[in-house]
Amino acid sequence: MNLSEKLKNIEFLSATSEAAEESGVVVYIVGGFVRDLLLNRHRNEIDFLVLGDGLNFASFFASKLGVDQIVTYKNFGTAHFKYHGFDLEFVGARKESYNRQSRKPSVEIGSFVDDIKRRDFTINTLAVDITKGNFGELIDTFNGLFDLENQIIKTPLSPFVTFDDDPLRIMRAFRFAAQLQFNVDEKILDAANKLRERLKIVSQERITDEFLKILSAQKPSIGLRLLYDTNVMEIVFPEVSNLAGVEQRKDYHHKDVFLHTCMVVDNIAQSTDNVWLRFAALVHDIAKPATKNFVEGTGWTFHGHEEMGARMMKGIFRRLKLPMHHLEYIEKLVRLHLRPIALAKEEVTDSAIRRFIVSAGQDLADLIILCRADITSKNPGKVSKYLNNYDRVMKKVWEVEEKDKLRAFQSPVRGETIMSVCNLKPSPKVGEIKTAIEDAILDGIIGNNYDEAYGYLLKIKDEYLSK
Ligand code: CTP
Repeated sequence: MNLSEKLKNIEFLSATSEAAEESGVVVYIVGGFVRDLLLNRHRNEIDFLVLGDGLNFASFFASKLGVDQIVTYKNFGTAHFKYHGFDLEFVGARKESYNRQSRKPSVEIGSFVDDIKRRDFTINTLAVDITKGNFGELIDTFNGLFDLENQIIKTPLSPFVTFDDDPLRIMRAFRFAAQLQFNVDEKILDAANKLRERLKIVSQERITDEFLKILSAQKPSIGLRLLYDTNVMEIVFPEVSNLAGVEQRKDYHHKDVFLHTCMVVDNIAQSTDNVWLRFAALVHDIAKPATKNFVEGTGWTFHGHEEMGARMMKGIFRRLKLPMHHLEYIEKLVRLHLRPIALAKEEVTDSAIRRFIVSAGQDLADLIILCRADITSKNPGKVSKYLNNYDRVMKKVWEVEEKDKLRAFQSPVRGETIMSVCNLKPSPKVGEIKTAIEDAILDGIIGNNYDEAYGYLLKIKDEYLSK
């Protein structure tokens, strides 16, 4: 199917052509929609470029379609409205000159080429004429089609100009590379490296948004490695950048934690689209550099990296302006990521499994997905042995769960009961007694039910009250 046939499938576009003719303007579809149409990727946002007054055309066209909700941004000269599941955005062709201190462009009316050449990448400069007579004609000013076919991200002008205009485009280049699995022009890599400090004028939210899009890609390591190779990672996520490097002492060297992390993230991307689980994979070893120690006769150790890593998360979340309601989940996965392997030992007790079920709670399945993704050995024998270990842990978890119904564990005897039986006011003692009852359940001394827990409370209360 050629471009014009694909466009004819979108019925309202014939009305766009008519509206353009009636109002005497030339209208193009530009940017991501054209790119994705050529790549057969579905999207429902269409950007229209109008040679003339974009705002007037948008309201004329909206009224023709019977749409009365239209949002206009006069300062940016843009308007948009929704129609039949599509998000339609209109802009008049403009020249943009940027202020070096912010990414907000100041806007002047411009020609088609003025507008197109200030766009980020050649693959985003493709435009389709939708005026009558030329409907479906592709306008390719910067060889965007060639670059699309050759799967390469290039800028229409020198990348120094394109990135200096808007440094967020450094992130966008790597994000498109990861999303589309394209290569990136060498000149972009050089400019990204040299201009990386300019990212400091970009709001953290927009940087983080692009970073999370990289993590959401099918193969996130493409973007992560580009960020690292151009030293941009040092600016946007220094803790991840610090993971790189191998140290050798005597016969011992440890693996490069950054490369290992890239593999873990790619592995997990095959099992889940949950970007927070992918984020957990990215940061699971984040404290390895800080806990690294060389022990004579043993080699490199990273004791406590899981706990320290979990504690680093709050600061990272604040700095990256990540949504705080995901913090606890990430902390938990980082903190527990070594537990399942410790539980794979044959002689593990039910009590240890119960404690694991309670600590992981509803995130147990995600934790196991992370642990499986963490296996990056190149030796297939080892991989299958480790995977079997996790299968064994999960089997034990199911057995114990079946017996105890623990997943939503909560002590069957609540604080109020403890207070009234022991004649206590709210105090740390109440918590101590509650923990003792929970421990007894987890250790299998009593069952997970009210009667046994209550009986146990009566039994231990004097001992605790006299302490
Ligand atoms: N654009 C740009 N520089 C930016 C952002 C956008 O030049 N920093 C241009 C590009 O031509 C882009 C178009 O504006 O194609 C629309 O922007 P946007 O919707 O953000 O990007 P898309 O390419 O449509 O892709 P996505 O929706 O995945 O971000």
